[in-house]
Amino acid sequence: MNQVAPIITADAEPLPTPKKVFVKTYGCQMNVYDSQRMSDALAADGYVGTEVMEDADLVLLNTCHIREKAAEKVYSELGRIRDLKNERRAEGRNLVIGVAGCVAQAEGEEIIRRAPAVDLVIGPQTYHRLPDAIRRVRAGGKVVETEYALEDKFEHLPAPARKVVQSRGVTAFLTVQEGCDKFCTFCVVPYTRGSETSRSVAQIVAEAEQLAGAGVREVTLLGQNVNAWHGEGPDGRDWGLGQLLFRLAEIPGIARLRYTTSHPRDMDDALIAAHRDLPQLMPYLHLPVQSGSDRILKAMNRRHTAADYLHLMDRIRTARPDIALSGDFIVGFPGETEEDFADTLQLVREVGYALAFSFKYSPRPGTPGASMKDHVDEAVKTERLVRLQAALAEEQAKFVNSLIGKTISVLIEKPGRQAGQIVGRSPWLQPTIVDESAGRIGDIIDVRVHGTGYNSLFADPI
Ligand code: SAH
Ligand code: SF4
Ligand code: F3S
Repeated sequence: MNQVAPIITADAEPLPTPKKVFVKTYGCQMNVYDSQRMSDALAADGYVGTEVMEDADLVLLNTCHIREKAAEKVYSELGRIRDLKNERRAEGRNLVIGVAGCVAQAEGEEIIRRAPAVDLVIGPQTYHRLPDAIRRVRAGGKVVETEYALEDKFEHLPAPARKVVQSRGVTAFLTVQEGCDKFCTFCVVPYTRGSETSRSVAQIVAEAEQLAGAGVREVTLLGQNVNAWHGEGPDGRDWGLGQLLFRLAEIPGIARLRYTTSHPRDMDDALIAAHRDLPQLMPYLHLPVQSGSDRILKAMNRRHTAADYLHLMDRIRTARPDIALSGDFIVGFPGETEEDFADTLQLVREVGYALAFSFKYSPRPGTPGASMKDHVDEAVKTERLVRLQAALAEEQAKFVNSLIGKTISVLIEKPGRQAGQIVGRSPWLQPTIVDESAGRIGDIIDVRVHGTGYNSLFADPI
């Protein structure tokens, strides 16, 4: 590692070399947000971030437990980091290894049993104790932090400094809700993220104002069931996400709002009205359905039918005709027949998704799905996934092609990969490439679409 030479003045103590932390993030946007918060908290303790694992004094893996592959990836990564730790030890130096996120919560001290080089296991509900946990590790010993009191859940880490927010650009995530009470039979999230809890309006508004003050133009509200968010509004009434969005839209500087991920059962009238009446709320909705078969939806404990979902999608489209709809799908849930799968394909065609994510069912330990009968053959799962993804790709292409020739507004986010270009984001999330003379980062400009790539757009300024 390149050591920075200590600065020594005549009568001062040498300044300590800053310690370096490398954070690797797996999984969903909430892990991205949490990783940022962990980095911010460690910065307050004198750590600087590094993009190079080999330079780090502390490696933190922020993990995902959603599918077996995601969880297993962590252990192969830990093998590589153990080798690095051993090399360090031979040089008489230390490397602290921490595992955070949903694998940490799900597996706890089992992680240290399987990967003894790990020093720290910390679950998502206890990140406010991270700096203290690291100090305890440095003092010698292993630390497992996965127990928490419910009221601690939003004991969040301190908000980032203005300069840090600015360095992350003009878009930002803001967690408003965490946890899940839905218990879909395939899913680990209710176990790893605990029960549904909402942050207070005051906390959310304060964080959004701080982001806006640092130049953020677009805020994406996060939650495992973000539309289950509710809280007491300043008017003393119980607010839902719809009312919260209206309040956040009043903050000067915030031009665009988004939220993810929502559950069909929590799409209430106020939220649909926000899509109709709130220009800041972007015309995009990610609303997972998982399957188009009522039999499978029932076995998954989704507690809605395909018809309920289609009806809901119709109401949302009526409220906001230009909305882009997105979803998640699982193929090969136990008991899924060819007929059930055909129902899923049918639903895909009826909705006309602008974007979608699809997965092969992965049995997860401790979930009801894992012990169900009639598991589907791996080869059948693969074959269904290929067919589903082909249908989704067609729908997606239809959507982006429908934008050709249209004038759309983009928020400019960053320089393009090629010189002379900048990249903005369309209202429907497609990266949009424009000539750099079109405007500066943070501007929202009108452009005319002249071409498309795989879920990206090429456009000319007007
Ligand atoms: N809270 C969100 C999604 C959380 S997980 C929601 O309710 O929609 C993101 C996606 O991963 C899910 O929508 C689902 O499609 C997929 N997923 C979850 N568990 C899975 C499993 N065991 N196997 C395969 N895919 C899974
Ligand atoms: Fe998982 Fe279902 Fe909860 Fe989404 S709603 S996080 S899929 S249990
Ligand atoms: Fe994965 Fe946990 Fe997110 S399991 S998808 S990181 S909530």
